[in-house]
Amino acid sequence: MPDPTYGARHIAIIMDGNGRWAKRKHLPRALGHKKGVEAVRNIVRVAGKMGIEAMTLYAFSSENWNRPDEEISDLMGLLRQYIQSDIEEFVENGIRLKVIGNYKALDDDIVGMIDNAIERTAANDKMTLAVALNYGAQDELLRATQEIAAAVKNGRLDPEEIETGHISAALDTADLPPLDLLIRTSGELRLSNFLLWQAAYSELYFTDVLWPDFDQKELEKALKSFGDRERRFGGR
Ligand code: IPE
Ligand code: IPE
Ligand code: MG
Repeated sequence: MPDPTYGARHIAIIMDGNGRWAKRKHLPRALGHKKGVEAVRNIVRVAGKMGIEAMTLYAFSSENWNRPDEEISDLMGLLRQYIQSDIEEFVENGIRLKVIGNYKALDDDIVGMIDNAIERTAANDKMTLAVALNYGAQDELLRATQEIAAAVKNGRLDPEEIETGHISAALDTADLPPLDLLIRTSGELRLSNFLLWQAAYSELYFTDVLWPDFDQKELEKALKSFGDRERRFGGR
């Protein structure tokens, strides 16, 4: 059997289209988000079985605060439920949970649940599931810049000695493999402030499928497409 990952170690997904999925079915948006969580659960299992090393999922962006309060509270409610109901499965299946983004700004009880789940799964090594919460790539780069500036200020780093490696190391994704494949569902052709630095040489895959409908077959299609590409990294 060929390697189902086609050599992709780290994949990231912009899980878009929950609202449109609900709208098409004349259902409330909240139900679209609920179905979206089911798709997350399924895809995490599938990716783990395939042998993907790391998967980063865009769950809530730093710009999603612009949504109505009711929708934000629905999303936070689903996040609470998801952590509570799936933590045991992560523990059992060797999934290490990681969060990227400024999640400490979320409600205290959510921060507590996240920190607890991160701690309980810290030694797991089958797959890292990185969930992007209150994440924005520009905010991430801003925080990294502040960290580097502080190192310069107190004399630990010389401005002339700053390398791209210092920046990568100061990002939330520092401990993840390079990003191989970036998927976006629901037909939008933009990155919406996701992993701007990390995507420098990632392969991009866009599909019209709405996130709640994204299943094993769709992930296999994306990986097959990745496997068919020729990556050059500027060479020839
Ligand atoms: C993605 O679905 C989920 C989040 C951004 C939290 P959307 O809610 O953006 O769905 P559409 O884009 O309106 O269809
Ligand atoms: C990107 O989707 C963020 C997440 C999937 C969490 P959005 O629906 O927020 O992106 P835009 O607003 O269409 O760019
Ligand atoms: Mg959207």
